[in-house]
Amino acid sequence: MTTSGRVALRTQALTKVFRGFRAVDAVDLEVREGGVHALVGPNGAGKTTLFNLLTGFVSPTSGTITVFGEDVTGKRPEQVARRGVARSFQITSLFENLTSREQVELALQGRTGQGFRFWRTEKLLGRHRARVDELLAEVGLMPLADKPAGLLAYGQKRALELALVLALDPRVMLLDEPTAGMGIEDVDRTIELVRRIAAGRTVVFVDHNMHVVGSLADRVTVLQQGKVLVEGPYAEVRGDERVITAYLGEADHA
Ligand SMILES: Nc1ncnc2c1ncn2[C@@H]1O[C@H](COP(=O)(O)OP(=O)(O)OP(=O)(O)O)[C@@H](O)[C@H]1O
Ligand SMILES: [Mg+2]
Repeated sequence: MTTSGRVALRTQALTKVFRGFRAVDAVDLEVREGGVHALVGPNGAGKTTLFNLLTGFVSPTSGTITVFGEDVTGKRPEQVARRGVARSFQITSLFENLTSREQVELALQGRTGQGFRFWRTEKLLGRHRARVDELLAEVGLMPLADKPAGLLAYGQKRALELALVLALDPRVMLLDEPTAGMGIEDVDRTIELVRRIAAGRTVVFVDHNMHVVGSLADRVTVLQQGKVLVEGPYAEVRGDERVITAYLGEADHA
């Protein structure tokens, strides 16, 4: 809501073709700095592929991507990350044997370029303690800081993943289905958490839950079969006939 005039992310005619299949098809996307932008659409619409393109995990077949005006088309993930773009994954991807504290510490080390080489060097492990505590507190995991991630409840794992994204101190956060698979209580907790961490940042998130989208997003882009179907404020998009049809179409095939 506190969007500036600047554009954080922009794609122009962004396209990804997998063996003849257009997963992302000529997408023009504009995300304003400070905005919370939702990306929605039926399964297979190309949302995750668009995230993969935006973060350099997949390179585009054609089209361009800019981050704060700088062309990052074809750049590798670490090069895009260096420009302040961080993402979380649709599927939980934690080290099950490491504690929350250790994983946040690792994320902070990665950020300062020490990477995994110094892993388990005692001096370095203590180095980020204050920041680790802050991040764990921010996502509500302080009481569980020393539990191996494998023993955390699902909602807690997702909270830890948000802490790992936050550890990168990103200007732009891309969250792929932060509430997927959660019960109502965890969903509401996650909405509050994302709202808090979105302050002063630009957030793009994918979610199938319209309650989440309506609670968080100031703008919504609806993708269908790789193309932008509708784009606008949530209040307008939710009532759009084409959007309703796209979702009902999906329900018919379920
Ligand atoms: N690496 C790949 N190789 C071939 N096809 C792919 C690849 N990645 C994605 N696709 C295809 O591209 C289409 C879009 O997939 P994508 O994962 O982006 O959809 P999505 O909108 O994130 O769906 P969901 O809501 O189920 O997560 C799908 O048909 C998928 O099978
Ligand atoms: Mg997806």
